[in-house]
Amino acid sequence: MSAMPLPTPLVESRLPNVGTTIFTVMSALATEHGAVNLGQGFPDFDCDPRLVAAVADAMQRGLNQYPPMAGVPALREAVAAKIEALYGHRYDPGSEVTITAGATQAILSAILAVVHPGDEVIVLDPCYDSYEPNIALAGGTAVHVPLVPGTFEPDFPRIAASLTPRTRAMVINSPHNPSATVWSQAQMERLAALLRPTDAVVISDEVYEHMVFDGALHQSVARFPELAARSIVVSSFGKTYHVTGWKVGYAAAPAALSAEFRKVHQFNVFTVNTPMQHGIAAFMADPSHHLELPAFYRAKRDRFRAGLEKTRLRALPCQGTYFQCVDYSAVSDKPEADFCRWLTTEIGVAAIPLSAFYADGFEQRIARFCFGKKDETLALAIERLAAL
Ligand SMILES: Cc1ncc(COP(=O)(O)O)c(C=O)c1O
Repeated sequence: MSAMPLPTPLVESRLPNVGTTIFTVMSALATEHGAVNLGQGFPDFDCDPRLVAAVADAMQRGLNQYPPMAGVPALREAVAAKIEALYGHRYDPGSEVTITAGATQAILSAILAVVHPGDEVIVLDPCYDSYEPNIALAGGTAVHVPLVPGTFEPDFPRIAASLTPRTRAMVINSPHNPSATVWSQAQMERLAALLRPTDAVVISDEVYEHMVFDGALHQSVARFPELAARSIVVSSFGKTYHVTGWKVGYAAAPAALSAEFRKVHQFNVFTVNTPMQHGIAAFMADPSHHLELPAFYRAKRDRFRAGLEKTRLRALPCQGTYFQCVDYSAVSDKPEADFCRWLTTEIGVAAIPLSAFYADGFEQRIARFCFGKKDETLALAIERLAAL
């Protein structure tokens, strides 16, 4: 006799519009069709073996129990020292730096800490896909302001027009995923002036802070005292040290904001894996890895862009990150998602449609590649793309 299925309660979705992300879809399609996966943003090469050794050493020394809630003190100190050395602002490692489970958890905790039901949060489209659901979970409303099509520069008049008394926060991201643009000092100063009369908190997603090219400087909010005073800076060790799967990052913010951030963090993950924190702290004692990262990725960017010259894809400018956008209008007039699916299954190279980063699915015939890959991976991708 077959048992009657037991009823599972129906829940009303907190995130009814969320499905499987395009990154997961394209990665699965890439695997299924043996495509070179330039879709999802992660390196296909390993990290420095000394970093693995430092983590193994921490494990062997028995550093395997809960660390302090805000993170291992040595790592918080290393973060504070790095920010001070690079951007000239000293965060107190005791009260202003918190180690998180990657940038993703830091952004969620930041949003949950500052956004109340009914609040508005300005996000600049195209943007990373976690911002909008995070805002929805907090009961807030995402106010989408597009970056200027073509240049992807912030559209300050439109941002100004979107500020209301309900604006609680604004999320910014430079170097920018997916457009690979980098905000200038003048743009940061303009943002500071725009927010001066408001109470808006800035959540500054700086996960690509060490991937800025051609001598430009990363304009962290930490460089601008007025912005630093109203900002939660988020970064990711995963991106910087080629260990995206470790999911360790941090949030730095003035003490009052950090205190609220930690209230959420404490009852969200409470703490982040201990040996990784010790290992990263030891590795950071030598800053050469992050100081050499721009040259490392610039060489990959230049190699990939030189290869793209041999194709009918038009490379857009790439000032930072490990993403390269291309205009494919000379090749196809398919909508972006269809083009990327076709590129993956028929040409054997996976890419991400830019429309996936827009709330309204805005179409520009642009696809995003990740060039954070081995040189042979990039060469194989170019060989295939040359056939277009
Ligand atoms: C703009 C941006 N923010 C945040 C993240 C997430 O970083 P993490 O892996 O540390 O959670 C990513 C990863 O792709 C990203 O591109």
